[in-house]
Amino acid sequence: MEREEALNLVKKYVHTKNLIKHMIAVESCMRILARHFGEDEEKWGIAGLLHDLDYETTKDNFPRHGFETAEILEEMGGISPDIIHAIKAHPGHIPAETKMDWALYAADPLTGLIVAATLMHPSKDLNDVDTDFVMHRFKEKRFAAGANREQIKQCEKLGLSLEEFINLCLEGMREKKNELGL
Ligand SMILES: [Fe+2]
Repeated sequence: MEREEALNLVKKYVHTKNLIKHMIAVESCMRILARHFGEDEEKWGIAGLLHDLDYETTKDNFPRHGFETAEILEEMGGISPDIIHAIKAHPGHIPAETKMDWALYAADPLTGLIVAATLMHPSKDLNDVDTDFVMHRFKEKRFAAGANREQIKQCEKLGLSLEEFINLCLEGMREKKNELGL
């Protein structure tokens, strides 16, 4: 699946602008992580871009979150089973196993923390937000409390320190700065 096709699918199923931006943010982290590990950037990017495809339709039925997306993608056909596995694993419904699974699991909440940190930065510009700034926000438990710190810390499963992980995701998100409106 090409990025454009995936983005069209997102626009078909997701109607909340901020949620689309969130999916693009996770895509941007997945892309840079794949590049960092010498993995398939397009595949990891698509997993990020599509991971919350059913978020709106399963919002009152969390146990279904991820599975509905899996069904949509399986019906379409031609989607790598690795992508479907990572999407099912990202809400913790099935165990994360592969590097891509762990990357999606940990990057999902980190992007939320980075967006919230950017919005409270004096300049509100992603280019001015550095790893130190995000690390400080990470340590403030009440700041963006929805961004699950334990989940973010699972970046260790990728062999990355928290600082390295934040640094990579910041860099990845800057590549999609315009699309993210940050
Ligand atoms: Fe998400």
